[in-house]
Amino acid sequence: MLTDDDFLAVRIAAAVRLGLTSYPKWLPSWLFYDEAGSRLFERITDLPEYYLTRTERGILKAHATEMITIAAGPERLRIAEMGAGTAQKTMVLLEAAVRRQGEVLYEPVDVSDSALAAAKARIERELKRVVVRPRHGDYTMGLDLEPTGQRERRLVLYIGSSIGNFDAEFATELLLVVRAGLNKGDGLLLGVDLVKDEATLLAAYDDAAGVTAAFNRNLLVRLNRELVANFVPEHFAHRAVWNAAESRMEMYLDSRVAQTVRLNMLDLTVEFAEGEPVHTENSYKYRPGQAEALLESTGFHHEETWTDAKGWFAVCLGRVE
Ligand code: AVJ
Repeated sequence: MLTDDDFLAVRIAAAVRLGLTSYPKWLPSWLFYDEAGSRLFERITDLPEYYLTRTERGILKAHATEMITIAAGPERLRIAEMGAGTAQKTMVLLEAAVRRQGEVLYEPVDVSDSALAAAKARIERELKRVVVRPRHGDYTMGLDLEPTGQRERRLVLYIGSSIGNFDAEFATELLLVVRAGLNKGDGLLLGVDLVKDEATLLAAYDDAAGVTAAFNRNLLVRLNRELVANFVPEHFAHRAVWNAAESRMEMYLDSRVAQTVRLNMLDLTVEFAEGEPVHTENSYKYRPGQAEALLESTGFHHEETWTDAKGWFAVCLGRVE
């Protein structure tokens, strides 16, 4: 058997070879999240332009009790989270669950052991009545959680607009896989970013302080280290675009000059033309009703949607029928 680290190394090698030998060139957005990238993303969530995290937090704060009440129904609730990270945004939901039932079991699923350990330490320190049972793994391959008990429901959190990185086909497949691991009565809380004016979207993905640019370029720093490559990150320019036809923000790294890059571990040499783009991320923005339709088409009954006053972000609750 391959260890997780070996498997990740093979996955990175395969994805980078495929993406950089394609035309147009691309790299997968999951590559952003090495240790430095995860820290940069945390900084992004605090930026004035990056409205997503704070808008969703406001929605969760305002409606946590109602969300937990509806999700639990007459049963006890346990809470799982897909791609939990540091679980900062989860605290208010866990608090509401503790208020309702005294103790709550929280099962964060994440590919990062360090993020899981940090989340466990932090939550158990701040919320004494939450028992954290981390699950290391890639949630896109299914959740692999232990069965719930009698008179117990599971609420799966998929918040933070993480689903935004996936196109409709993949998002559908993913929710079907999640649905397959749940029982009747279980719930899914889905957070999606909504379509809004272009200027607001562009600023969120191209902030004045340049943190998003650093986040984007960090991908090249990671490839230099992990694939023994010789990218010069400053030779690539960060660019964010609103693609209205596809309803998504896109990020690119544009080669500032004609250049040749060597990736030793792949035994691969890649030529970049001056101005040539490398597509690094899609971030889909939903129209009102779209996330609800996605839930309904993947075996969930849409129970409720909560949004903010500006209609910038939506949190939807689906229940397995
Ligand atoms: C973590 C996928 C929700 O798409 O907004 C932040 C990642 N990319 N700035 C997003 C990201 C650029 C983020 N998600």
